[in-house]
Amino acid sequence: MCGIVAYLGKKQAYPLIVDGLRKLEYRGYDSSGVAVLDENLSVFKKKGKVNDLVNFVNKENGDTSGTIAMGHTRWATHGEPNDKNAHPHLSGNGEIALIHNGIIENYATLKNALIDLGHEFKSDTDTEVLVHLIEEIQKKGNLSIEDAVRKSLEKVVGAYAIVVIDKKSPDILIGARNSSPLVFGLGDDEFFLGSDASPIIKYTNKVIYLEDEDVITINRNGDYKIVNLQNKTSTHQIKELDLKIEELEKGGFDHFMLKEIYQQPATIEQSMRGRINAAEGWAILGGMSKHMNRISKSKRIILMACGTSWHSALIGEYLFEEIARIPTEVEYASEFRYRNPIITEDDFVIALSQSGETADTLAAIELAKEKGAFVYGIVNVVGSSIARLTDAGSYIHAGPEIGVASTKAFTSQVSILSLMALYLGHERGKISGGDYRELLTALEVIPQKVEEILDQNDHIKSIATEIKNASNALYLGRGYNFPVALEGALKLKEISYIHAEGYPAAEMKHGPIALIDMYMPVVVIATNQSAYEKIVSNIQEVKARKGIVIAIINEDDTIIREMADFFVEIPTTAEPLSPLLSVIPLQLLSYHIALMRGCNVDQPRNLAKSVTVE
Ligand code: F6R
Repeated sequence: MCGIVAYLGKKQAYPLIVDGLRKLEYRGYDSSGVAVLDENLSVFKKKGKVNDLVNFVNKENGDTSGTIAMGHTRWATHGEPNDKNAHPHLSGNGEIALIHNGIIENYATLKNALIDLGHEFKSDTDTEVLVHLIEEIQKKGNLSIEDAVRKSLEKVVGAYAIVVIDKKSPDILIGARNSSPLVFGLGDDEFFLGSDASPIIKYTNKVIYLEDEDVITINRNGDYKIVNLQNKTSTHQIKELDLKIEELEKGGFDHFMLKEIYQQPATIEQSMRGRINAAEGWAILGGMSKHMNRISKSKRIILMACGTSWHSALIGEYLFEEIARIPTEVEYASEFRYRNPIITEDDFVIALSQSGETADTLAAIELAKEKGAFVYGIVNVVGSSIARLTDAGSYIHAGPEIGVASTKAFTSQVSILSLMALYLGHERGKISGGDYRELLTALEVIPQKVEEILDQNDHIKSIATEIKNASNALYLGRGYNFPVALEGALKLKEISYIHAEGYPAAEMKHGPIALIDMYMPVVVIATNQSAYEKIVSNIQEVKARKGIVIAIINEDDTIIREMADFFVEIPTTAEPLSPLLSVIPLQLLSYHIALMRGCNVDQPRNLAKSVTVE
């Protein structure tokens, strides 16, 4: 949610910033801007994508020389996406420039006070208020820019990652964070700040993850200082990033989303590496084993997440209850934090997040920890805020997910949840030896089976052609595949803008059946062995009302293939693991439909990859 990149060094900064913005564009893409400081402080901003900004700068023949600069790609919160609301924002005297990711919650109060002091505002943003506040505090106290930034932040309520450039201090870059991520990169005679490591990794793998209320001042001579808002020095370890630049490229695919769908045999395998051995009969997660004493005695599991990660969590509920026999609840992180939930020290809380930065999930974790629960993270981005805040956890090791619609993170999360349930079930003696071995064996061969489904891409594309003009779609599933129905519907709506709903198949007759007519595609996940006859009846009900049935069936299915208008066969697996396979055709179906409708699949409208505001 908004991307930030800044540079201070010996090279011309503008090309590096533009390159960095292209890497960060997945975080927000309604407008972008840069500020470059040489003799003048030049600011360029444009509504639209980074390309629109570059074309604008070229057309204007803008002066982009300078070895200190910063750039921002925006996901609008306060003020519509247009040129004036794009970042950077300038102080009234035009000498201080600021970029910001987050929300200044008390901006209205601050703004009114500043207006009374004679400040005039050019944009509708909360961010512009902060840069005027810095100017005011600097002027009033005759302060250095570092002190002015720090003192201004003391007055701010809300979330922020900011970078500030001051024309009067051309050798200094200042950054600060609270609840929004900011990474400091240390190269050879050059320094970077970024919302994440993607714009930095090309130049250095040495980074410091800033903590909440850190303010960093970076000097061109190589000195840097990190203090908290009370001006106390904080020390941070320099970490080495294990990220390869190729992981941030499309690698021959037309879109990141397609690349990420196709990576799934490898990413699922990677999520299990060193954690399972069916031949020897074990599944172990290092993050859990150290705390197994506490975890296995838990009276309840609470899974917390948002969006697609919440759908994985729902599958986790089925897995933990069936395999480990622990009562499990699933919470939307955003709801959990705003009621007064009953949590005790006997609860095992699991937070799921691809980005590790989702603001609502972070806040829910803080609440659970306050109440004494043990909190475990299932996270993709190494070193992210959620990974650092949780008591223990397992990385899913899916590699950077750049397509805004989550695909490979979902299957890797489900793979980790399956491993956790098996490990816990076995430790607690709740799963028979036979079932345990059967599930381990089935889990190990999932990557090959995903590969077989991907081979049907052309067939899935042909189904997409048949339903691409629909205005609505219904997704039905039962048991383990009900969350997959929700996920299939979310994938379709977020990238193709077709209204879609996921429903438990049996619930259809309690309302949604009223929607079915000859124009309504109904995607039915019909692979469940246990409720097969029930699903057959649900399909009959749809057919009786002339709905268009697209069924996901097992390869040995004989009945539903005769009833469905279209079907995709997928390999058979143990039912608890079926979501790992059944979701793949739904991802491909959404991808092709969106593409056929001319939508931007990697950067769907109104969305951003990492939701760092509430
Ligand atoms: C949908 C999608 C979102 C995210 C949600 C949570 O395709 O990607 O619904 O799943 O914003 O994000 P994370 O997992 O980063 O916490």
